[in-house]
Amino acid sequence: MKRYRVAIVGATGFVGQEFIRVLEQRNFPMESISLLASDRSAGKKILVAKQEIEVKETVPESFQVIDIALFSAGAETSHHFSPIAAQSGAVVIDNSSAFRMVPSVPLVVPEVNPQDIKRHKGIIANPNCSTIQMVVVLYPLHKVNPIKRIIVDTYQAVSGTGAAAAEELTAQAKQVVDGQNTVPHVYPHQIAFNLLPEIDVFLDNGYTKEEWKMVEETKKIMHADNIAISATCVRVPVFIGHSEAVHIEFSQPMSSEEARRILAQAPGVKVLDDPVISLYPQPWAAAGTDEVFVGRIRQDASHPRGLAMWIVADNLRKGAALNAVQIAEETIKREWLHRGG
Ligand SMILES: NC(=O)c1ccc[n+]([C@@H]2O[C@H](COP(=O)([O-])OP(=O)(O)OC[C@H]3O[C@@H](n4cnc5c(N)ncnc54)[C@H](OP(=O)(O)O)[C@@H]3O)[C@@H](O)[C@H]2O)c1
Repeated sequence: MKRYRVAIVGATGFVGQEFIRVLEQRNFPMESISLLASDRSAGKKILVAKQEIEVKETVPESFQVIDIALFSAGAETSHHFSPIAAQSGAVVIDNSSAFRMVPSVPLVVPEVNPQDIKRHKGIIANPNCSTIQMVVVLYPLHKVNPIKRIIVDTYQAVSGTGAAAAEELTAQAKQVVDGQNTVPHVYPHQIAFNLLPEIDVFLDNGYTKEEWKMVEETKKIMHADNIAISATCVRVPVFIGHSEAVHIEFSQPMSSEEARRILAQAPGVKVLDDPVISLYPQPWAAAGTDEVFVGRIRQDASHPRGLAMWIVADNLRKGAALNAVQIAEETIKREWLHRGG
């Protein structure tokens, strides 16, 4: 079996650490692994497959003998180093927002549009975490009964912001319980015991950039420019696991039974839906798992062609590292490591 030389840029971060776990758990065919971060972490040692590997500073020469470079070090680092890595011959799978909406860069969720990988020119983008879990559930329904409109409200975990945000929630939770004042650093306000309807920056149209990513990325991944989408993205004091309340308007009526039947067969989806025993997806239970969970599937009482549902997934796994590794697996399985047209 052919083996590949893999680099992780951002290896010390939340997503980077998850990359290491996912590669190990899935027995990804690696010849070597190169752990890269900023100069702050250079020299640090990380265990990979029981071997201590030293973290190196990311420099242009880091990519000279790399087949697959998994990036999760923010958009600025990706903007700078991804083209260098691609020019050095690596295929970049980028977790940041840097290239997602560049028309020539495929934006891929393997359960939805694996064929788009073929046309890559060295960079493949991994979508935003909230978008990934939503399209994994909506695409199988859309194939049967085209979706006309989506209204989604998200409940996003602090790990989506990175390691510093998770530390802030831990510290603030303790301070609140101890009756002390909190001082926010990562978020504009206290996140412990609170909700913040602000993820990423505000745009001129009143939406946040995170909300607008869901609008644009969903259309690109599903090849469905005509779907009308509105999103409200909310940061919640949960460590891992993004949740979404989704309202869908279809072209034709669809019963909740039919949706459940379709989703029971859908790749990457697990239906957890039995109100009698309070069975529905929860972020606490989804953390550390690979599936996208869906439940509370019901007729939307406000629309004759509408369904409502609740979608949950681990934002660090399917929302980031797992999806990117699945893209890498698909790329090598289909022998698409070479540059497409
Ligand atoms: N968390 C999620 O759910 C999620 C989901 C999808 C996408 N993403 C994206 O993944 C990226 C990282 O997220 P995270 O949650 O892992 O953040 P994080 O925990 O804050 O980690 C950031 C990582 O980036 C590295 N880094 C920072 N500046 C760098 C530079 N100039 N050169 C090389 N490496 C640098 C850091 O290395 P040092 O240790 O040296 O500082 C660290 O390894 C972001 O682009 C984020 O948008 C995150």
